[in-house]
Amino acid sequence: MTLKPLQGAPLLVVGAGIMGAGIAQVAAQAGHAVMLFDLREGAAAQAKAQLAGSLDALAAKGKLSAQDVAGTLERIEPIPSLDAAASVRLVVEAVVEKLDVKRSLLRQLEGIVGGDCVLATNTSSISVTAIANGLRQPGRLVGMHFFNPVPLMRLVEVVSGLRTDAAVAQAVHSLAGSWGKVAVHARSTPGFIVNRIARPYYAETLALLQERSAEPALLDACLRAAGFRMGPCELMDLIGHDTNFAVTQSVFEANFFDKRFAPSLVQRELVDGGLLGRKSGRGFYDHAPGAVKPSVPAFEPMELPAATLLSVHGQGAVARRLSDTLAAAGRGFEPVPDSDWVGLEIDGAQLRLTDGRAASQVGAGEVAEVVVFDLPLSRDGGAALSWAPAVQAGAAWVEAAPRWLRALGFNAQRMADAPGLVVARTVAMLINEAADAVHQGVCDEAGADAAMKLGVNYPQGPFEWLHGWGAAPVAALLDALDAHYRGERYRVSPGLRMRAWQRGMVESQDCKGDVV
Ligand SMILES: NC(=O)c1ccc[n+]([C@@H]2O[C@H](COP(=O)([O-])OP(=O)(O)OC[C@H]3O[C@@H](n4cnc5c(N)ncnc54)[C@H](O)[C@@H]3O)[C@@H](O)[C@H]2O)c1
Repeated sequence: MTLKPLQGAPLLVVGAGIMGAGIAQVAAQAGHAVMLFDLREGAAAQAKAQLAGSLDALAAKGKLSAQDVAGTLERIEPIPSLDAAASVRLVVEAVVEKLDVKRSLLRQLEGIVGGDCVLATNTSSISVTAIANGLRQPGRLVGMHFFNPVPLMRLVEVVSGLRTDAAVAQAVHSLAGSWGKVAVHARSTPGFIVNRIARPYYAETLALLQERSAEPALLDACLRAAGFRMGPCELMDLIGHDTNFAVTQSVFEANFFDKRFAPSLVQRELVDGGLLGRKSGRGFYDHAPGAVKPSVPAFEPMELPAATLLSVHGQGAVARRLSDTLAAAGRGFEPVPDSDWVGLEIDGAQLRLTDGRAASQVGAGEVAEVVVFDLPLSRDGGAALSWAPAVQAGAAWVEAAPRWLRALGFNAQRMADAPGLVVARTVAMLINEAADAVHQGVCDEAGADAAMKLGVNYPQGPFEWLHGWGAAPVAALLDALDAHYRGERYRVSPGLRMRAWQRGMVESQDCKGDVV
Protein backbone atom coordinates (compact mmCIF):
# COMPACT_ATOMS: atom_id res chain seq x y z
CA MET A 1 0.00 0.00 0.00
CA THR A 2 1.45 3.38 -0.93
CA LEU A 3 0.56 5.99 1.58
CA LYS A 4 0.78 9.71 1.92
CA PRO A 5 1.82 10.82 5.40
CA LEU A 6 -1.15 11.05 7.72
CA GLN A 7 -0.04 14.26 9.40
CA GLY A 8 -2.76 16.86 9.06
CA ALA A 9 -5.15 14.43 7.34
CA PRO A 10 -8.86 14.52 8.18
CA LEU A 11 -9.81 11.69 10.47
CA LEU A 12 -12.74 9.94 12.04
CA VAL A 13 -12.92 8.68 15.59
CA VAL A 14 -15.64 6.09 16.18
CA GLY A 15 -16.80 5.68 19.77
CA ALA A 16 -17.07 8.81 21.91
CA GLY A 17 -16.42 7.10 25.23
CA ILE A 18 -13.50 7.79 27.52
CA MET A 19 -10.87 6.73 24.96
CA GLY A 20 -12.51 8.04 21.79
CA ALA A 21 -13.07 11.47 23.32
CA GLY A 22 -9.41 11.60 24.39
CA ILE A 23 -8.17 10.55 20.97
CA ALA A 24 -10.37 13.15 19.29
CA GLN A 25 -8.96 15.82 21.61
CA VAL A 26 -5.35 14.92 20.97
CA ALA A 27 -5.84 14.76 17.19
CA ALA A 28 -7.71 18.07 17.13
CA GLN A 29 -5.03 19.72 19.25
CA ALA A 30 -2.50 18.50 16.70
CA GLY A 31 -4.45 20.33 13.99
CA HIS A 32 -6.52 17.55 12.42
CA ALA A 33 -10.11 17.99 11.36
CA VAL A 34 -11.78 15.28 13.46
CA MET A 35 -15.18 13.74 12.92
CA LEU A 36 -16.59 11.98 15.95
CA PHE A 37 -19.28 9.31 15.75
CA ASP A 38 -21.00 7.23 18.40
CA LEU A 39 -23.82 4.76 17.96
CA ARG A 40 -25.55 6.23 20.99
CA GLU A 41 -27.43 9.30 19.84
CA GLY A 42 -26.08 12.51 21.27
CA ALA A 43 -22.99 10.82 22.75
CA ALA A 44 -20.53 12.51 20.37
CA ALA A 45 -21.99 15.97 21.00
CA GLN A 46 -21.98 15.28 24.73
CA ALA A 47 -18.31 14.23 24.58
CA LYS A 48 -17.48 17.46 22.76
CA ALA A 49 -19.38 19.52 25.36
CA GLN A 50 -17.49 17.77 28.14
CA LEU A 51 -14.21 18.44 26.38
CA ALA A 52 -15.12 22.11 26.06
CA GLY A 53 -15.58 22.21 29.82
CA SER A 54 -12.21 20.63 30.57
CA LEU A 55 -10.35 22.77 27.99
CA ASP A 56 -11.96 25.91 29.42
CA ALA A 57 -10.76 24.84 32.87
CA LEU A 58 -7.22 24.45 31.49
CA ALA A 59 -7.46 27.87 29.86
CA ALA A 60 -8.59 29.38 33.16
CA LYS A 61 -5.45 27.98 34.77
CA GLY A 62 -3.38 29.52 31.99
CA LYS A 63 -2.33 26.17 30.54
CA LEU A 64 -4.01 26.77 27.19
CA SER A 65 -4.86 29.95 25.30
CA ALA A 66 -8.49 30.78 24.54
CA GLN A 67 -7.49 30.61 20.88
CA ASP A 68 -6.19 27.03 21.27
CA VAL A 69 -9.39 26.02 23.00
CA ALA A 70 -11.57 27.53 20.29
CA GLY A 71 -9.43 26.03 17.50
CA THR A 72 -9.48 22.56 19.04
CA LEU A 73 -13.23 22.61 19.51
CA GLU A 74 -13.88 23.98 16.02
CA ARG A 75 -11.97 21.09 14.54
CA ILE A 76 -14.12 18.43 16.25
CA GLU A 77 -17.34 17.69 14.42
CA PRO A 78 -19.84 15.23 15.88
CA ILE A 79 -21.48 13.44 12.96
CA PRO A 80 -24.86 11.69 12.94
CA SER A 81 -23.91 8.96 10.48
CA LEU A 82 -20.73 7.26 9.31
CA ASP A 83 -21.64 8.15 5.73
CA ALA A 84 -20.46 11.71 6.42
CA ALA A 85 -16.91 10.44 6.77
CA ALA A 86 -16.26 9.27 3.21
CA SER A 87 -13.29 11.61 2.73
CA VAL A 88 -11.26 10.83 5.87
CA ARG A 89 -7.81 9.31 5.51
CA LEU A 90 -7.66 7.71 8.95
CA VAL A 91 -10.27 6.07 11.14
CA VAL A 92 -9.50 5.30 14.78
CA GLU A 93 -12.11 3.06 16.32
CA ALA A 94 -12.56 3.09 20.09
CA VAL A 95 -15.88 1.28 20.41
CA VAL A 96 -16.78 -1.42 22.86
CA GLU A 97 -14.17 -4.20 23.33
CA LYS A 98 -16.02 -6.89 21.33
CA LEU A 99 -14.56 -8.66 18.32
CA ASP A 100 -17.81 -8.96 16.39
CA VAL A 101 -18.71 -5.29 16.94
CA LYS A 102 -15.28 -4.08 15.83
CA ARG A 103 -15.23 -6.41 12.81
CA SER A 104 -18.62 -5.41 11.51
CA LEU A 105 -17.96 -1.70 12.11
CA LEU A 106 -14.72 -1.85 10.13
CA ARG A 107 -16.34 -3.84 7.33
CA GLN A 108 -19.06 -1.21 7.15
CA LEU A 109 -16.43 1.54 7.06
CA GLU A 110 -14.63 -0.13 4.15
CA GLY A 111 -17.78 0.51 2.13
CA ILE A 112 -17.68 4.21 2.99
CA VAL A 113 -14.05 5.41 3.06
CA GLY A 114 -11.57 5.46 0.17
CA GLY A 115 -9.09 2.69 -0.63
CA ASP A 116 -6.14 4.60 0.87
CA CYS A 117 -7.81 5.25 4.23
CA VAL A 118 -5.97 3.69 7.16
CA LEU A 119 -8.06 1.87 9.73
CA ALA A 120 -6.76 1.85 13.31
CA THR A 121 -8.18 0.03 16.30
CA ASN A 122 -7.66 1.05 19.90
CA THR A 123 -8.36 -2.46 21.15
CA SER A 124 -6.46 -3.31 24.31
CA SER A 125 -6.84 -7.07 24.19
CA ILE A 126 -8.25 -8.36 20.91
CA SER A 127 -5.98 -9.72 18.20
CA VAL A 128 -5.49 -7.21 15.39
CA THR A 129 -5.15 -10.20 13.05
CA ALA A 130 -8.58 -11.42 14.14
CA ILE A 131 -10.21 -8.00 13.73
CA ALA A 132 -8.75 -7.76 10.19
CA ASN A 133 -10.20 -11.12 9.20
CA GLY A 134 -12.93 -10.45 6.64
CA LEU A 135 -11.77 -6.98 5.62
CA ARG A 136 -11.37 -6.43 1.91
CA GLN A 137 -7.99 -4.81 2.56
CA PRO A 138 -6.73 -6.35 5.83
CA GLY A 139 -3.33 -4.72 5.28
CA ARG A 140 -4.74 -1.31 6.14
CA LEU A 141 -5.76 -2.27 9.67
CA VAL A 142 -3.33 -1.52 12.48
CA GLY A 143 -3.62 -1.32 16.26
CA MET A 144 -3.21 2.16 17.72
CA HIS A 145 -3.32 1.41 21.42
CA PHE A 146 -3.58 4.56 23.50
CA PHE A 147 -3.44 4.62 27.28
CA ASN A 148 -5.90 6.23 29.62
CA PRO A 149 -6.08 9.24 30.04
CA VAL A 150 -5.15 9.76 26.39
CA PRO A 151 -4.13 13.45 26.61
CA LEU A 152 -1.71 12.70 29.47
CA MET A 153 -0.28 9.27 28.67
CA ARG A 154 2.51 9.52 26.13
CA LEU A 155 2.68 5.91 24.99
CA VAL A 156 1.01 4.52 21.89
CA GLU A 157 1.53 0.87 21.01
CA VAL A 158 1.37 0.52 17.23
CA VAL A 159 0.23 -3.05 16.86
CA SER A 160 0.74 -5.02 13.67
CA GLY A 161 -1.33 -8.09 12.93
CA LEU A 162 -0.25 -10.84 10.58
CA ARG A 163 -1.49 -8.93 7.56
CA THR A 164 -0.83 -5.33 8.60
CA ASP A 165 1.06 -3.49 5.88
CA ALA A 166 4.42 -2.26 7.22
CA ALA A 167 3.86 1.13 5.55
CA VAL A 168 0.57 1.49 7.42
CA ALA A 169 2.21 0.72 10.78
CA GLN A 170 4.98 3.18 9.97
CA ALA A 171 2.57 5.93 8.95
CA VAL A 172 0.62 5.57 12.19
CA HIS A 173 3.86 5.41 14.18
CA SER A 174 5.05 8.67 12.72
CA LEU A 175 1.61 10.25 13.10
CA ALA A 176 1.55 9.41 16.82
CA GLY A 177 4.98 11.02 17.13
CA SER A 178 3.64 14.19 15.55
CA TRP A 179 0.91 14.21 18.24
CA GLY A 180 3.59 14.36 20.93
CA LYS A 181 3.30 10.67 21.73
CA VAL A 182 6.02 8.04 21.93
CA ALA A 183 5.02 5.28 19.56
CA VAL A 184 6.36 1.76 19.93
CA HIS A 185 5.92 -1.02 17.41
CA ALA A 186 4.40 -4.24 18.72
CA ARG A 187 3.34 -7.49 17.16
CA SER A 188 -0.23 -8.51 17.88
CA THR A 189 0.16 -11.04 20.68
CA PRO A 190 -1.85 -11.33 23.91
CA GLY A 191 -1.47 -8.17 26.03
CA PHE A 192 0.76 -6.56 23.37
CA ILE A 193 3.69 -5.06 25.30
CA VAL A 194 2.55 -3.31 28.47
CA ASN A 195 -0.31 -5.53 29.52
CA ARG A 196 1.89 -8.57 29.04
CA ILE A 197 5.14 -7.44 30.66
CA ALA A 198 3.30 -5.84 33.60
CA ARG A 199 1.54 -9.05 34.69
CA PRO A 200 4.24 -10.15 37.17
CA TYR A 201 4.08 -6.80 38.96
CA TYR A 202 0.68 -7.86 40.25
CA ALA A 203 1.19 -11.63 40.15
CA GLU A 204 4.26 -11.77 42.40
CA THR A 205 2.59 -9.69 45.09
CA LEU A 206 -0.58 -11.78 44.82
CA ALA A 207 1.52 -14.97 45.12
CA LEU A 208 3.25 -13.58 48.23
CA LEU A 209 -0.12 -12.65 49.71
CA GLN A 210 -1.46 -16.11 48.99
CA GLU A 211 1.44 -17.58 50.97
CA ARG A 212 0.80 -15.03 53.70
CA SER A 213 4.39 -13.88 53.39
CA ALA A 214 3.68 -10.22 54.10
CA GLU A 215 0.91 -7.66 54.46
CA PRO A 216 -0.10 -5.40 51.55
CA ALA A 217 1.38 -2.32 53.25
CA LEU A 218 4.82 -3.95 53.46
CA LEU A 219 4.74 -5.15 49.84
CA ASP A 220 3.64 -1.72 48.64
CA ALA A 221 6.28 0.05 50.72
CA CYS A 222 9.08 -2.16 49.41
CA LEU A 223 8.12 -1.76 45.77
CA ARG A 224 7.61 1.98 46.15
CA ALA A 225 11.06 2.14 47.68
CA ALA A 226 12.35 0.40 44.54
CA GLY A 227 11.07 3.36 42.51
CA PHE A 228 7.61 2.23 41.44
CA ARG A 229 5.16 5.09 41.72
CA MET A 230 2.53 2.92 43.39
CA GLY A 231 2.79 -0.41 45.12
CA PRO A 232 0.91 -3.28 43.47
CA CYS A 233 -1.81 -3.50 46.12
CA GLU A 234 -2.67 0.17 46.05
CA LEU A 235 -2.42 0.13 42.26
CA MET A 236 -4.81 -2.84 41.93
CA ASP A 237 -7.16 -1.05 44.33
CA LEU A 238 -7.01 1.99 42.04
CA ILE A 239 -7.45 0.09 38.75
CA GLY A 240 -10.24 -2.00 40.24
CA HIS A 241 -9.80 -5.69 40.97
CA ASP A 242 -12.49 -6.63 38.47
CA THR A 243 -10.66 -4.83 35.65
CA ASN A 244 -7.21 -6.06 36.68
CA PHE A 245 -8.47 -9.62 37.10
CA ALA A 246 -10.18 -9.49 33.69
CA VAL A 247 -6.95 -8.42 31.96
CA THR A 248 -4.99 -11.17 33.72
CA GLN A 249 -7.63 -13.71 32.77
CA SER A 250 -7.66 -12.61 29.15
CA VAL A 251 -3.86 -12.85 28.88
CA PHE A 252 -4.03 -16.28 30.58
CA GLU A 253 -6.72 -17.59 28.25
CA ALA A 254 -5.10 -16.09 25.17
CA ASN A 255 -1.90 -17.97 26.05
CA PHE A 256 -3.77 -21.26 26.11
CA PHE A 257 -3.77 -21.28 29.91
CA ASP A 258 0.00 -21.14 30.27
CA LYS A 259 0.41 -21.33 34.04
CA ARG A 260 2.94 -18.53 33.93
CA PHE A 261 0.01 -16.17 33.51
CA ALA A 262 -2.38 -17.88 35.93
CA PRO A 263 -4.70 -15.49 37.77
CA SER A 264 -4.70 -15.42 41.55
CA LEU A 265 -7.17 -16.90 44.00
CA VAL A 266 -6.51 -13.93 46.25
CA GLN A 267 -7.76 -11.52 43.62
CA ARG A 268 -10.62 -13.76 42.57
CA GLU A 269 -11.89 -13.74 46.14
CA LEU A 270 -11.77 -9.95 46.25
CA VAL A 271 -13.71 -9.78 42.98
CA ASP A 272 -16.26 -12.36 44.10
CA GLY A 273 -16.73 -10.46 47.34
CA GLY A 274 -17.23 -7.12 45.61
CA LEU A 275 -14.06 -5.76 47.21
CA LEU A 276 -13.08 -4.02 44.00
CA GLY A 277 -10.83 -1.34 45.45
CA ARG A 278 -11.41 2.40 45.57
CA LYS A 279 -14.55 2.27 43.49
CA SER A 280 -16.33 -0.02 45.95
CA GLY A 281 -14.73 1.53 49.03
CA ARG A 282 -12.71 -1.53 49.96
CA GLY A 283 -10.07 -3.69 48.32
CA PHE A 284 -6.78 -4.54 49.98
CA TYR A 285 -7.26 -1.28 51.82
CA ASP A 286 -10.24 0.44 53.36
CA HIS A 287 -11.10 3.45 51.20
CA ALA A 288 -13.99 4.69 53.31
CA PRO A 289 -13.81 8.42 54.06
CA GLY A 290 -11.53 8.95 57.04
CA ALA A 291 -10.06 5.43 56.93
CA VAL A 292 -6.39 5.35 57.84
CA LYS A 293 -4.18 3.52 55.39
CA PRO A 294 -1.76 1.16 57.12
CA SER A 295 1.91 1.78 56.47
CA VAL A 296 5.25 0.39 57.57
CA PRO A 297 6.96 2.07 60.55
CA ALA A 298 9.15 5.06 59.72
CA PHE A 299 12.88 4.60 59.35
CA GLU A 300 14.97 5.10 62.44
CA PRO A 301 18.67 5.46 61.71
CA MET A 302 21.15 3.88 64.06
CA GLU A 303 24.88 3.42 64.59
CA LEU A 304 26.63 0.33 63.33
CA PRO A 305 26.62 -2.30 66.09
CA ALA A 306 29.89 -3.60 67.50
CA ALA A 307 31.57 -6.55 65.80
CA THR A 308 34.95 -8.21 65.88
CA LEU A 309 35.26 -9.47 62.33
CA LEU A 310 33.49 -7.92 59.34
CA SER A 311 33.79 -9.17 55.75
CA VAL A 312 32.10 -7.84 52.63
CA HIS A 313 31.42 -10.69 50.23
CA GLY A 314 31.03 -10.50 46.48
CA GLN A 315 31.38 -7.73 43.92
CA GLY A 316 29.15 -5.23 42.25
CA ALA A 317 27.02 -2.38 43.44
CA VAL A 318 25.52 -3.96 46.55
CA ALA A 319 28.94 -5.10 47.81
CA ARG A 320 30.30 -1.64 46.97
CA ARG A 321 27.52 0.05 48.84
CA LEU A 322 28.16 -2.07 51.92
CA SER A 323 31.90 -1.40 51.72
CA ASP A 324 31.37 2.34 51.29
CA THR A 325 29.04 2.53 54.28
CA LEU A 326 31.48 0.65 56.51
CA ALA A 327 34.38 2.74 55.30
CA ALA A 328 32.47 5.98 55.86
CA ALA A 329 31.80 4.89 59.44
CA GLY A 330 35.51 4.17 59.89
CA ARG A 331 34.95 0.44 60.30
CA GLY A 332 37.60 -1.94 59.07
CA PHE A 333 36.50 -4.98 57.06
CA GLU A 334 37.93 -7.73 54.91
CA PRO A 335 36.81 -7.78 51.27
CA VAL A 336 36.04 -11.26 49.89
CA PRO A 337 35.40 -10.36 46.25
CA ASP A 338 35.51 -13.93 44.98
CA SER A 339 32.83 -15.15 47.37
CA ASP A 340 29.88 -16.96 45.81
CA TRP A 341 27.44 -14.75 47.69
CA VAL A 342 26.95 -11.02 48.17
CA GLY A 343 26.56 -9.40 51.54
CA LEU A 344 28.09 -8.92 54.93
CA GLU A 345 29.60 -11.48 57.27
CA ILE A 346 29.56 -10.39 60.89
CA ASP A 347 31.48 -12.59 63.31
CA GLY A 348 30.49 -15.67 61.31
CA ALA A 349 26.81 -14.76 60.83
CA GLN A 350 25.64 -13.81 57.35
CA LEU A 351 23.53 -11.01 55.94
CA ARG A 352 23.06 -12.12 52.34
CA LEU A 353 21.56 -10.44 49.29
CA THR A 354 18.84 -12.81 48.11
CA ASP A 355 19.87 -15.09 45.25
CA GLY A 356 16.37 -16.52 44.87
CA ARG A 357 16.75 -19.21 47.51
CA ALA A 358 14.88 -19.09 50.78
CA ALA A 359 17.12 -18.19 53.72
CA SER A 360 16.21 -21.58 55.19
CA GLN A 361 17.53 -23.36 52.12
CA VAL A 362 20.85 -21.61 52.61
CA GLY A 363 20.55 -22.38 56.31
CA ALA A 364 20.01 -26.08 55.64
CA GLY A 365 22.87 -26.44 53.18
CA GLU A 366 25.52 -23.91 54.17
CA VAL A 367 25.31 -21.86 57.30
CA ALA A 368 22.68 -21.71 60.05
CA GLU A 369 23.21 -18.08 61.09
CA VAL A 370 21.87 -16.49 57.94
CA VAL A 371 19.42 -13.76 57.06
CA VAL A 372 18.63 -12.73 53.49
CA PHE A 373 17.75 -9.21 52.36
CA ASP A 374 16.03 -7.93 49.26
CA LEU A 375 17.54 -6.26 46.21
CA PRO A 376 18.07 -2.60 47.14
CA LEU A 377 17.15 -0.65 44.04
CA SER A 378 17.03 2.73 45.72
CA ARG A 379 19.97 4.83 46.81
CA ASP A 380 17.74 6.77 49.18
CA GLY A 381 18.68 6.41 52.81
CA GLY A 382 15.91 4.81 54.83
CA ALA A 383 14.18 3.09 51.91
CA ALA A 384 12.03 0.11 52.92
CA LEU A 385 13.80 -3.20 52.30
CA SER A 386 12.51 -6.64 53.22
CA TRP A 387 14.50 -9.32 54.98
CA ALA A 388 13.87 -12.83 56.26
CA PRO A 389 15.78 -15.14 58.60
CA ALA A 390 16.52 -18.81 58.07
CA VAL A 391 14.57 -21.13 60.39
CA GLN A 392 17.96 -22.37 61.59
CA ALA A 393 19.15 -18.91 62.68
CA GLY A 394 19.44 -18.33 66.42
CA ALA A 395 17.37 -15.68 68.19
CA ALA A 396 20.38 -13.45 68.78
CA TRP A 397 21.18 -13.16 65.06
CA VAL A 398 17.52 -12.72 64.12
CA GLU A 399 17.41 -9.82 66.52
CA ALA A 400 20.73 -8.32 65.46
CA ALA A 401 20.35 -8.59 61.67
CA PRO A 402 17.68 -5.88 61.22
CA ARG A 403 19.78 -3.54 63.37
CA TRP A 404 22.64 -4.04 60.96
CA LEU A 405 20.34 -3.38 58.03
CA ARG A 406 19.11 -0.19 59.66
CA ALA A 407 22.64 0.92 60.40
CA LEU A 408 23.45 0.28 56.75
CA GLY A 409 20.69 2.71 55.79
CA PHE A 410 17.71 0.47 55.10
CA ASN A 411 14.24 0.59 56.67
CA ALA A 412 14.37 -3.15 57.38
CA GLN A 413 11.00 -4.92 57.10
CA ARG A 414 10.73 -8.49 58.23
CA MET A 415 8.65 -10.85 56.13
CA ALA A 416 8.24 -14.61 55.85
CA ASP A 417 11.07 -16.57 54.29
CA ALA A 418 9.77 -16.43 50.72
CA PRO A 419 12.44 -17.04 48.08
CA GLY A 420 13.40 -13.92 46.16
CA LEU A 421 11.61 -11.77 48.77
CA VAL A 422 9.68 -8.90 47.13
CA VAL A 423 11.66 -6.63 44.82
CA ALA A 424 14.17 -9.18 43.54
CA ARG A 425 11.55 -11.67 42.44
CA THR A 426 9.23 -9.01 41.00
CA VAL A 427 11.90 -7.23 38.98
CA ALA A 428 13.42 -10.54 37.81
CA MET A 429 10.01 -11.64 36.59
CA LEU A 430 9.42 -8.34 34.79
CA ILE A 431 12.80 -8.75 33.10
CA ASN A 432 11.96 -12.35 32.19
CA GLU A 433 8.64 -11.40 30.62
CA ALA A 434 10.26 -8.57 28.67
CA ALA A 435 13.03 -10.89 27.48
CA ASP A 436 10.39 -13.36 26.36
CA ALA A 437 8.46 -10.68 24.48
CA VAL A 438 11.61 -9.64 22.64
CA HIS A 439 12.56 -13.28 22.05
CA GLN A 440 9.19 -13.80 20.38
CA GLY A 441 9.55 -10.67 18.26
CA VAL A 442 6.71 -8.79 19.98
CA CYS A 443 8.86 -5.67 20.32
CA ASP A 444 12.49 -4.67 20.59
CA GLU A 445 14.40 -3.83 23.77
CA ALA A 446 14.08 -0.09 23.40
CA GLY A 447 10.37 -0.50 22.71
CA ALA A 448 9.87 -2.61 25.83
CA ASP A 449 11.73 -0.08 27.98
CA ALA A 450 9.85 2.91 26.57
CA ALA A 451 6.52 1.11 26.86
CA MET A 452 6.96 0.19 30.52
CA LYS A 453 8.28 3.60 31.51
CA LEU A 454 5.60 5.55 29.66
CA GLY A 455 2.66 3.13 29.76
CA VAL A 456 2.85 2.21 33.45
CA ASN A 457 5.41 4.70 34.82
CA TYR A 458 8.08 2.17 35.76
CA PRO A 459 11.19 3.86 37.13
CA GLN A 460 13.35 1.98 34.63
CA GLY A 461 12.72 -0.24 31.64
CA PRO A 462 13.15 -4.00 32.07
CA PHE A 463 16.24 -4.01 29.86
CA GLU A 464 17.76 -1.15 31.79
CA TRP A 465 17.41 -3.29 34.91
CA LEU A 466 18.77 -6.27 33.04
CA HIS A 467 21.84 -4.39 31.86
CA GLY A 468 22.49 -3.22 35.40
CA TRP A 469 21.87 -6.55 37.09
CA GLY A 470 23.16 -9.03 34.52
CA ALA A 471 21.31 -11.87 32.79
CA ALA A 472 23.19 -14.65 34.61
CA PRO A 473 22.16 -13.64 38.16
CA VAL A 474 18.59 -12.91 37.04
CA ALA A 475 18.30 -16.34 35.40
CA ALA A 476 19.91 -17.97 38.45
CA LEU A 477 17.42 -16.24 40.75
CA LEU A 478 14.49 -17.44 38.64
CA ASP A 479 15.92 -20.97 38.50
CA ALA A 480 16.03 -20.96 42.30
CA LEU A 481 12.39 -19.85 42.44
CA ASP A 482 11.49 -22.47 39.86
CA ALA A 483 13.20 -25.17 41.91
CA HIS A 484 11.36 -24.01 45.02
CA TYR A 485 7.86 -23.81 43.54
CA ARG A 486 8.14 -26.46 40.83
CA GLY A 487 5.58 -24.93 38.52
CA GLU A 488 5.60 -23.07 35.25
CA ARG A 489 5.55 -19.56 36.67
CA TYR A 490 9.29 -19.12 37.08
CA ARG A 491 10.28 -20.78 33.81
CA VAL A 492 13.22 -18.81 32.43
CA SER A 493 12.54 -17.38 28.99
CA PRO A 494 14.79 -18.81 26.27
CA GLY A 495 15.57 -15.18 25.49
CA LEU A 496 16.95 -14.61 28.98
CA ARG A 497 18.71 -17.98 29.05
CA MET A 498 20.53 -17.18 25.81
CA ARG A 499 21.68 -13.87 27.22
CA ALA A 500 22.90 -15.56 30.38
CA TRP A 501 25.02 -17.82 28.20
CA GLN A 502 26.43 -14.98 26.16
CA ARG A 503 29.70 -14.29 27.90
CA GLY A 504 31.08 -10.82 28.02
CA MET A 505 27.75 -9.13 27.31
CA VAL A 506 26.29 -7.46 30.34
CA GLU A 507 26.75 -10.08 32.99
CA SER A 508 28.49 -9.61 36.24
CA GLN A 509 28.36 -11.91 39.23
CA ASP A 510 25.96 -9.56 40.88
CA CYS A 511 24.42 -6.16 40.58
CA LYS A 512 26.21 -3.22 39.06
CA GLY A 513 25.37 -0.04 37.20
CA ASP A 514 22.07 1.48 38.21
CA VAL A 515 21.01 -1.50 40.28
CA VAL A 516 22.14 -0.62 43.74
N1 LIG B 1 -10.66 2.54 29.14
C1 LIG B 1 -9.37 2.26 29.04
O1 LIG B 1 -8.58 2.43 29.98
C2 LIG B 1 -8.82 1.76 27.73
C3 LIG B 1 -7.44 1.84 27.47
C4 LIG B 1 -6.94 1.41 26.24
C5 LIG B 1 -7.81 0.92 25.30
N2 LIG B 1 -9.15 0.83 25.56
C6 LIG B 1 -10.03 0.31 24.49
O2 LIG B 1 -10.69 1.40 23.88
C7 LIG B 1 -11.98 0.99 23.43
C8 LIG B 1 -13.04 1.88 24.03
O3 LIG B 1 -12.94 1.84 25.43
P1 LIG B 1 -13.59 2.95 26.36
O4 LIG B 1 -13.05 2.74 27.71
O5 LIG B 1 -13.47 4.29 25.72
O6 LIG B 1 -15.13 2.49 26.34
P2 LIG B 1 -16.42 3.34 26.62
O7 LIG B 1 -17.46 2.37 27.04
O8 LIG B 1 -16.14 4.53 27.47
O9 LIG B 1 -16.81 3.90 25.16
C9 LIG B 1 -17.20 3.11 24.09
C10 LIG B 1 -18.14 3.93 23.23
O10 LIG B 1 -18.35 3.22 22.00
C11 LIG B 1 -19.71 3.37 21.64
N3 LIG B 1 -20.04 2.30 20.73
C12 LIG B 1 -20.24 1.01 21.01
N4 LIG B 1 -20.45 0.32 19.86
C13 LIG B 1 -20.38 1.21 18.85
C14 LIG B 1 -20.48 1.10 17.44
N5 LIG B 1 -20.71 -0.05 16.84
N6 LIG B 1 -20.32 2.22 16.71
C15 LIG B 1 -20.09 3.40 17.30
N7 LIG B 1 -19.97 3.56 18.64
C16 LIG B 1 -20.11 2.47 19.40
C17 LIG B 1 -20.46 3.38 22.95
O11 LIG B 1 -21.73 3.99 22.81
C18 LIG B 1 -19.51 4.14 23.85
O12 LIG B 1 -19.80 5.52 23.87
C19 LIG B 1 -12.10 -0.48 23.79
O13 LIG B 1 -11.69 -1.25 22.70
C20 LIG B 1 -11.12 -0.62 24.96
O14 LIG B 1 -10.64 -1.92 25.11
C21 LIG B 1 -9.68 1.26 26.74
